[in-house]
Amino acid sequence: MHRRAFIGTAAAGLGMAPLLRLTSRKQPYRVALIGAGWWGMNILRTALAAGSARVVGLCDVDQRHLRAAQDEIDMLTGTRPQGYEDYRALLEAARPEIVIIATPDHWHALGAIAAIKSGAHVYLEKPVSHTHDEGRAILSAARTYERVVQVGTHRRVSPHNISAMAFLRTGSVGKIGMVRAFVHYGGGPGTLTPDADAPPGLNWNMWCGPAPLRPFNPRIHPRGFRQYLDYANGQLGDWGIHWLDQILWWSEEQHPKTVFSTGGRHIKVDGTDAPDTQVATFTFETFTVTWEHRLYAANQAEKTNIGCYFYGTKGTLHLGWRDGWTFYPSRTTDPVLHEDALLDQPDDQSIRALWDDFTRAIERGTRPACDIQHGYHATSMCLLAMISLKTGRSLDWDGARGTILGDPEATSLLRRPYRAPWVYPVP
Ligand SMILES: NC(=O)c1ccc[n+]([C@@H]2O[C@H](COP(=O)([O-])OP(=O)(O)OC[C@H]3O[C@@H](n4cnc5c(N)ncnc54)[C@H](O)[C@@H]3O)[C@@H](O)[C@H]2O)c1
Repeated sequence: MHRRAFIGTAAAGLGMAPLLRLTSRKQPYRVALIGAGWWGMNILRTALAAGSARVVGLCDVDQRHLRAAQDEIDMLTGTRPQGYEDYRALLEAARPEIVIIATPDHWHALGAIAAIKSGAHVYLEKPVSHTHDEGRAILSAARTYERVVQVGTHRRVSPHNISAMAFLRTGSVGKIGMVRAFVHYGGGPGTLTPDADAPPGLNWNMWCGPAPLRPFNPRIHPRGFRQYLDYANGQLGDWGIHWLDQILWWSEEQHPKTVFSTGGRHIKVDGTDAPDTQVATFTFETFTVTWEHRLYAANQAEKTNIGCYFYGTKGTLHLGWRDGWTFYPSRTTDPVLHEDALLDQPDDQSIRALWDDFTRAIERGTRPACDIQHGYHATSMCLLAMISLKTGRSLDWDGARGTILGDPEATSLLRRPYRAPWVYPVP
């Protein structure tokens, strides 16, 4: 049975109107993009299509990406925006009202905080940070400077996710004691790609920025940084945050009490260093969460390779991505319920609804759907699991204070040294 009608009521019930058009502001916002790669350009195109953006600057440390972005914006708007290699020069010269940040993860904190301090509202890609204390510093800056910071966890405004949340809250799934989140993408061991000279036009030193300066490898940039722990946090930091955020949204919890993770690199021999296999458990007061990922062994044995299962006393709800949501009742005589996903192209996302929610929050002075606080909490779950994996220990988390209890070594991993001249942001 399809439940398409659920969308409207669900959106209304959660106080959101994801497809509402911006109407009240006459002038488009002065928008700048830092990180003009794959996802940054998806956001910027969407902002232009929404009619609420005028591009006043583009920043990228790779001239190839920068020029391609300038060409495209010129083609779309008839105006070629100024290009910058250094985000600080962009903020100083262009004085944007909104900054989109879509760099690799290790640059999120410095870019976001500088943008906030310059007076801009920020659309910040997930995960909010590469280490925990950076996320706290972004949250603190957003509150101090009273700027809206929307995180790119667009599943909070995606129609089938909204209606799944409303369905869970009707009590139809019963009391939920466990949620299992997972992403299993197939792949093989891979092969080594040799290091190389950085391509002409790429400022590799600036790309690495506050992170360690590794030799350039074409596997890292563009897009491959996700599987290198100097710059990101593997599949958990990349994909896990989306699903852990859905669980925090459903439960209205902010943080787990304990976190344990194990895993390793059992298959990959491709020069990346993030775990190809990982399991994490998170204990909350009334339910337990698990995360699993595997970067190999695509198969037809498992029904779906992505999403969360909510296990309740009345049945199990699978919340997925392209496959919408499906409820399997415990009573086998009851019908299975299903709702399709309704996603935007390219890449099956809900950026438009997230962008409109963002500009609405700026106009009204309210918190957006994916406020930095939500992004910080979901990111923290991923980062804590990575610390547990590295230390091999279960962590007791004092989420209210943002500290790990009784474990100085693990606590020291809530941050990391920055490469000079960059200075680690203080919350
Ligand atoms: N919300 C989502 O569903 C979603 C989807 C995809 C990617 N993302 C996020 O978007 C971000 C970018 O990912 P991507 O796949 O587009 O990567 P990408 O490699 O295609 O783009 C990143 C760009 O940032 C540039 N860059 C690096 N350092 C910079 C700096 N200091 N200043 C300016 N530019 C710099 C790179 O040269 C590159 O052009 C990541 O944080 C990723 O997690 C989010």
